[in-house]
Amino acid sequence: MSNWNLNEVPSQSEKVAIVTGANSGIGYEVTLGLIKKGFEVVMACRDMQKAVEAKSKILLQYPKAKINIIMIDTSSLKEVKKFADQFQTQYKKLHLLINNAGIMMSPHRVTDDGFENQFATNYIGHFALTGLLLPILTSTSGSRIISLTSLSYKWSEIKFDDFHFKKGYSKTKAYGQSKRACLMFAFELQRRLSAAGYDTLSIAAHPGLSKTNLDRYYPALIRPLGSLFLQPAAKGALPILFALLDNDLKGGEFIGPDGFQQMRGYPTKVEADEYSNNKEIAKRLWTESEKMTSVFYLS
Ligand SMILES: NC(=O)c1ccc[n+]([C@@H]2O[C@H](COP(=O)([O-])OP(=O)(O)OC[C@H]3O[C@@H](n4cnc5c(N)ncnc54)[C@H](OP(=O)(O)O)[C@@H]3O)[C@@H](O)[C@H]2O)c1
Repeated sequence: MSNWNLNEVPSQSEKVAIVTGANSGIGYEVTLGLIKKGFEVVMACRDMQKAVEAKSKILLQYPKAKINIIMIDTSSLKEVKKFADQFQTQYKKLHLLINNAGIMMSPHRVTDDGFENQFATNYIGHFALTGLLLPILTSTSGSRIISLTSLSYKWSEIKFDDFHFKKGYSKTKAYGQSKRACLMFAFELQRRLSAAGYDTLSIAAHPGLSKTNLDRYYPALIRPLGSLFLQPAAKGALPILFALLDNDLKGGEFIGPDGFQQMRGYPTKVEADEYSNNKEIAKRLWTESEKMTSVFYLS
């Protein structure tokens, strides 16, 4: 897998992918990569204008690309449900679900569902989306679900006594918790898919440190510094594309960049820490997530 890139993947037609947060950064580059390989991509975005602009940019490069935009706000359970309903009225198969949309270190906000915003946007919305789309995923041969996590998962454990930071908000810990949850979800999802006898794969992936709009909440003076040491978003998308397209991968694996401290580089298999591999904590997180979303699956 050294220096893996898209040229190693054969073209695939008649296959459908959903990318949440497809208009920017990693999601945009993953969309572009999948289009290049012949997939039809549903860009699941929250801002129609940004989505249309991104779609137009892709069509300039790939005029025959099959791209559909369906609106989603992953921070709202009502909107996630609306997306899932709309998708399933239009499509009868789903090969790839890329749970990518995210925000980082945002100011404190409580969503309409009463959740801390980073936890809701990055994790809870995707937990619900996956559950709502599970029937179509499991009935599509060779389907995969990729959960985007981050090196920052180490910034926090799961705060079972205060998921929503009611006792005091930390924007770094809230991001860390959300990304820890995405990672543990990917592992637990695979265990549950296997136990139920499904061949759908769940894989976790992270893009190292990549130049995207994720730093939008950083002070304006600091943002330009990113360009000096972050890898381009297209490079950061490679571990995600590898997780999506490499035929030798098994479910429950974790993919990241192969360079120094996993900050940049080409895709490789990486290890999660002991806490993230703890099956009891993952089970508890799953049960709590079902209660929070009222989406019950594989349980
Ligand atoms: N960049 C990195 O170095 C890095 C490192 C580790 C992990 N990641 C992960 O990579 C993923 C993509 O982030 P990125 O770096 O590509 O950042 P980005 O350029 O800011 O892209 C984030 C995408 O998510 C969308 N989004 C945010 N909130 C949403 C919501 N409530 N509903 C629907 N879509 C929403 C954004 O839409 P708008 O454009 O409308 O805001 C945008 O399309 C995230 O999960 C992030 O945690 C990134």
